[in-house]
Amino acid sequence: MRVLVADPLDEAGLERLRQGGVELDVRTGLPRATLLSRIGEYEAVIVRSETRIDAEVVEAGRRLAVIGRAGVGVDNIDVEAATRRGIVVVNAPEANTISAAEHTLAMMLAVARRIPWAHHALAQERRWERRRFVGVQLAGKTLGLVGLGRIGSEVARRARAFGMHVLAYDPYVVPERAAETGVELVELEDLLGRSDFISIHCPLTARTRHLIDAERLRRVRPGAYLVNCARGGIVDEAALAEALREGRLAGAALDVFAEEPPGDNPLLGLPNVVVTPHLGASTQEAQSAAALAVAEEVLRVLAGDVPRHA
Ligand code: MLT
Repeated sequence: MRVLVADPLDEAGLERLRQGGVELDVRTGLPRATLLSRIGEYEAVIVRSETRIDAEVVEAGRRLAVIGRAGVGVDNIDVEAATRRGIVVVNAPEANTISAAEHTLAMMLAVARRIPWAHHALAQERRWERRRFVGVQLAGKTLGLVGLGRIGSEVARRARAFGMHVLAYDPYVVPERAAETGVELVELEDLLGRSDFISIHCPLTARTRHLIDAERLRRVRPGAYLVNCARGGIVDEAALAEALREGRLAGAALDVFAEEPPGDNPLLGLPNVVVTPHLGASTQEAQSAAALAVAEEVLRVLAGDVPRHA
């Protein structure tokens, strides 16, 4: 069995695959044309978020039995096209949860306490400007979570420890389950109008693309902050940039972009926006857990067994 690892994968996963007796081919950053011409040689391919496995790649993967995603979101894989061809898509839905939740809190604190700008002024410009960088506390504020799955729930737990009141909008969660984590389940419009901080934690699907659009941004409480460590496409970036420029939002903290790397994105130049390059899952712990989990899943499918997460 030949397995192509098309994006960087932690050594723990590579080692597990080798132990599993497959022939491993680690070729990251392959040009699309090369991927298309070579994918037909493999029974499995493993990616993170850089490589797109679209319908054309699926079609070219004549021997593919399984596509592995070392992470949560499968929005870079055409799952429908794969399913039509009987190819199993597996991921590692639990591995990144804590790292993504911690990054969300880090981003929320960074934008609330103006840490990147204060750091830049002092470290780069040697300016000691204490009055310029007065921020806001999290305690006593309302956090609105758009999505109360694994990551959203962990963010809720941590936010409550900071003394925040937590609301969530999630059409797939019942109020009783939300209440178990001390979260008040509300409708999206209600959440937008009541939250001081809004944080996105849903997957990117056809239904959630531009879920936070110009119209919804107009309903956001004036002076609120938006945090997005989920997927860029869930928020309409042009509308967000306008809301930030007009001062309707106090700031935004963004780890993800509609296009990555974001290139000439207007959000990057704004003085009230903190950005990181999709680092939510970039911890040693999450990377090795995701690599190991996806390796196990791929080996399971190649052995003819049922995967744990498909
Ligand atoms: C995920 O979906 O697992 C995260 O966004 C991290 C990643 O894409 O690597």
